Amino acid sequence: MTSPGARHARKAVIPVAGMGTRFLPATKAIPKELLPVVDRPALEYIVAEAARAGLPEVLMVTGRNKAAIEDFFDRVPELEAALEKKGDDGRLAAVHSSTEVAQVHFVRQGEAKGLGHAVLQAAAFVGQEPFAVLLGDDIIDERDLLLEQMLAVQAEHGGSVIALLDVGMENIDKYGAVAVEPTSDGRDVVAVTGLVEKPPVDEAPSSLAIIGRYVLAPEVFEVLRETAPGRGGEIQLTDALATLVERGEPVHGVVFSGRRYDTGDRLDYLKAVVQLASERDDLGPPLRAWLHEFVSQLPRDGASPS
Ligand code: UTP
Repeated sequence: MTSPGARHARKAVIPVAGMGTRFLPATKAIPKELLPVVDRPALEYIVAEAARAGLPEVLMVTGRNKAAIEDFFDRVPELEAALEKKGDDGRLAAVHSSTEVAQVHFVRQGEAKGLGHAVLQAAAFVGQEPFAVLLGDDIIDERDLLLEQMLAVQAEHGGSVIALLDVGMENIDKYGAVAVEPTSDGRDVVAVTGLVEKPPVDEAPSSLAIIGRYVLAPEVFEVLRETAPGRGGEIQLTDALATLVERGEPVHGVVFSGRRYDTGDRLDYLKAVVQLASERDDLGPPLRAWLHEFVSQLPRDGASPS
């Protein structure tokens, strides 16, 4: 058991080996984690989040058709030389930042057998320490310090910590759902007493869904090795966490109420691009002006424009 006061998490694991079927055909040749959110791949926001939270050692779990991800985090000397020659310092800094933000390592998953199986590939990299998992298609707004709070909860209580979002009962069957009890740490920190992956709505223990941030105890690896394929024939991280709870290991939840975008979902992806671009200094003013005009011409009830 990881006792309170055990070493703090220092490493981040980002699984990016999924097939991205919701975004086909774009994801036939481009990993969904590299789809641009304004002018940066979704994945760059996530690596930057890990580094900001004090986790500069990052392992990406990749798969076939994901070589472009390794290229993105590599240097491109010819491009850098060309930008330098042109004196384009802004773009040169942007190109550098993707390689400098963190120390990025790679391991292959071989076959997309589920998120739990992807996390298991990180066992040698992680060793016997708690570690963070950030899903490669889930962006948390940088003003919302979710991962920092989760790391603090893990450092205080030990065990594992998962991020939760109230998605409403009508949507809970698309997520991992949890049963929780209150703690004395305030309304947004709960004790997790049960987990189930994508339950039918009438069997869901609550409307709290697991979203793409975890701080896990290393004991999860030994559980994952014994976890049989579950929902969808995949080895589910949710099932391994349920086993940890059954064994009496502490699992806490941090209930998030900030801004989050699931960029693997087409509608959420579009919202992320519009919202993040509209808040930027360079693109924001003209985009907001255009949006006002565009929205004023839309029918109010969501019907298609004539
Ligand atoms: P998702 O379920 O959102 O990814 O997994 P997916 O399977 O690629 O998406 P769809 O449903 O087919 O559109 C969440 C994260 O876990 C990774 C994905 O890359 C994504 O970042 N993942 C999932 C793996 O690394 N390996 C897997 O076997 C499954």
